[in-house]
Amino acid sequence: MGDSLNLLPASFADFRRAAEKRLPRFLFDYIDGGAGAEVTLRRNTADWEAVQLTQKVLRDASRMDCSVDLFGEQLALPLVLAPIGMGGMSARRGEVQAKRAADKAGIPFCLSTVGICTLEEVGAVSDRPAWFQLYMLKDRGIVQEILGRAWNSGVRTLVFTIDLAVLGTRYRDIRNGMAGGLGPWGRLRSGPLDWLLHPRWAWDVGLKGGPHGFGNIAMYVKQSKNPRDYLHWTGTQFDASVTWKDIEWLRQVWKGNLVLKGVLDTDDARQAVAVGADGMIVSNHGGRQLDGVASTATMLPRIADAVGSDTTLLVDGGIRSGQDLVRALALGAKAALVGRPWVMALAAGGEAALSRYLGLVKQDMRTALGLSGAINARDVGRGVLL
Ligand code: GLV
Repeated sequence: MGDSLNLLPASFADFRRAAEKRLPRFLFDYIDGGAGAEVTLRRNTADWEAVQLTQKVLRDASRMDCSVDLFGEQLALPLVLAPIGMGGMSARRGEVQAKRAADKAGIPFCLSTVGICTLEEVGAVSDRPAWFQLYMLKDRGIVQEILGRAWNSGVRTLVFTIDLAVLGTRYRDIRNGMAGGLGPWGRLRSGPLDWLLHPRWAWDVGLKGGPHGFGNIAMYVKQSKNPRDYLHWTGTQFDASVTWKDIEWLRQVWKGNLVLKGVLDTDDARQAVAVGADGMIVSNHGGRQLDGVASTATMLPRIADAVGSDTTLLVDGGIRSGQDLVRALALGAKAALVGRPWVMALAAGGEAALSRYLGLVKQDMRTALGLSGAINARDVGRGVLL
């Protein structure tokens, strides 16, 4: 699980470095990268780091408790593993491994519409229900069928992504030919040669880890056999015409918790409350959509001031550590999601590495709770900030 020097990974940056060595370039870049010049991507992490915690001592840190309640579930940590398209390509049957690690850590795992493993595969891991993330497809009949399958696999919390009506321009993916257009040498370099240079991944995931289609939609879309068709598929099948009316429709057909992912504006947040969403994720899609927008650390407190008492707020984008979880709670979130961290940890060493990462986050969070004076995750408020 360590890097080539066999040192133990202790932080997100360590898992990321190990993942970079293990994964083919196109896959690492797809996960690691963001839209445009990656300004928002950098802002996301930098702005959490800039949120200063207070140090308050002698408050009986032995009572420390990281757990929270969220949508009727108890979470051992205020953390959810975010839905990641192709996340399951980072390790063999990756989403199943991630679900196991999430179960052990006592937190929810959210499966993506364009994950590799199916709802049924992930649902069979344990009795703890997964969350499911939905993109609106043009064919609403297929959407209803997928929702039925999600419900039957135990899903009760649906995350509907609202910030992908158009796909962000990701320079790294363009360079790597994810959107096509590579000449023969480019295809060799980002195809067979990339595999040869990453033999562990090529063997374990590339050769032994199939099928590599998007499990949840493979039966509806013939051309989804190859993950590289992903960008093309999103362009043709995702419904760009979605409006708040469609959320009202979704609210009618989905009986479980409905969480809207991709709110970054106070007016949108009010709309989300008005259409009956149970919660929302303050998100700029990890800096992968509109480069130049504000970081989530900047927008969360504003959105919390606008709708915090009317809804359940979650946040993602740039969350890396246990300190970040406390910062997120302090600024108004009930919990945070991490995307890149779980995929990088999984790539670095499968379920064991992801469990290790989640353990490190918990350890950091305990330190932050114990020394910021909050002690209990349920009591974190703006008082823990400078
Ligand atoms: C999909 O959600 C992506 O960000 O690639």
